[in-house]
Amino acid sequence: MKANDFGKTKEDIKELYNTYFYETFKRFDFVAETGSGSYIIDEDGKEYLDFMAGIAVNSTGHCNKRVTEAIVNQCQEMMHASNYFYTVPQVMLAELICKNIGMEKIYFQNSGAEANEVMIKLARKYGKDNFGPNRYKIVTALNSFHGRTLATLAATGQPDSAIQKNYDPFIPGFSYAEYNNLESFEAACDEDTIAIMVEPVQGEGGVIPATEEFLKGLRKLCDEKNMLLLFDEVQTGWGRTGSLMAYMDYGVKPDCVSMAKAMGGGMPIGAMCTSEKLALTFGPGAHGSTYAGNPVCCAASYAQISEIIEEKLSDNSKKLGAYLKDKLTNLPGVKEVRGRGLMIGVEFTKDIANDVKYNSADEGLLITAVRPSVIRLVPPLNITEKECDKAFDILNSVVSKLV
Ligand SMILES: Cc1ncc(COP(=O)(O)O)c(C=O)c1O
Repeated sequence: MKANDFGKTKEDIKELYNTYFYETFKRFDFVAETGSGSYIIDEDGKEYLDFMAGIAVNSTGHCNKRVTEAIVNQCQEMMHASNYFYTVPQVMLAELICKNIGMEKIYFQNSGAEANEVMIKLARKYGKDNFGPNRYKIVTALNSFHGRTLATLAATGQPDSAIQKNYDPFIPGFSYAEYNNLESFEAACDEDTIAIMVEPVQGEGGVIPATEEFLKGLRKLCDEKNMLLLFDEVQTGWGRTGSLMAYMDYGVKPDCVSMAKAMGGGMPIGAMCTSEKLALTFGPGAHGSTYAGNPVCCAASYAQISEIIEEKLSDNSKKLGAYLKDKLTNLPGVKEVRGRGLMIGVEFTKDIANDVKYNSADEGLLITAVRPSVIRLVPPLNITEKECDKAFDILNSVVSKLV
């Protein structure tokens, strides 16, 4: 659907938003009408190089042919059946994912927050089933982001932030420790703690990669204390950081991993994967969802993940991530460039991230601002060197006028 199909201009569309829409996002000043590869095209035909990729979702590019065809074909066969039936896309996707990331069982959900929600529920039930009624606490990291539902908001270690303000009281059972600080996590765990939950690279928190020692230390701590290690790979998963899952590159296997975003290629789907032993925690009736594992989303995800694997997009992420990171250090006013693969944060010495974001959009480049001084670049994983050069040139010109 395009504005013109309804005889509307951009201003008409904005007016309709103002009239009817619950607005919780500050939008860019254009209508995103079509997507093609690394570009979004607006109502006037202007092209924007998309280095936010639908917030780390469009990893094979906009309207990737294989993903699009899979969706169209599946829509003609079966759009929704419910989880009372065996459906082929669901189980083929389950096998594809489990075999490629070294996990044994999968549980589908519809989003990142829901994937984390079910991971939290699984950990709690596992703790109570095996160790008694008080063993349900989970330690997460300060500055983390795990979603907007009430449990995942409680898991999110940003006390007193705007995203949490006035949604309290939160569900009990969460405490926070300092990211990349093993002693802090050791101190936060007690005999009632059943799990530690972290992002291998904190995304919304400012693109902060975990150190290898930290993740390895958490693994050891969990093994010693009979706790579960839960990785939230909603943002880092499916090639983003240079391996299919970030944990594969770190060499630290979690007991349970959540995923969403890139796995669906634009369709809403999430999941958690575990060992077979841990999966025994759930039986019939333990959890459920009407849409989770929906055939269209699963068919899209099967195509998306196949494309990521067959086109070796993790390798491209690693290679071009290193190339882009290196270039970005030449921007003026830079304090630090960090990240893994094509998940890159640029921290400036001044709080200019929002200005960089909106001024770059005016110049035809889309990025996000994750902290007042930090921009995030998460382009499609099949991006080219030339497109990285173009993004750098736009940023260079924009930032030069701000510092
Ligand atoms: C690490 C992480 N976990 C969870 C979420 C929530 O995912 P969703 O927005 O699909 O609910 C996000 C979203 O940004 C995320 O980055």
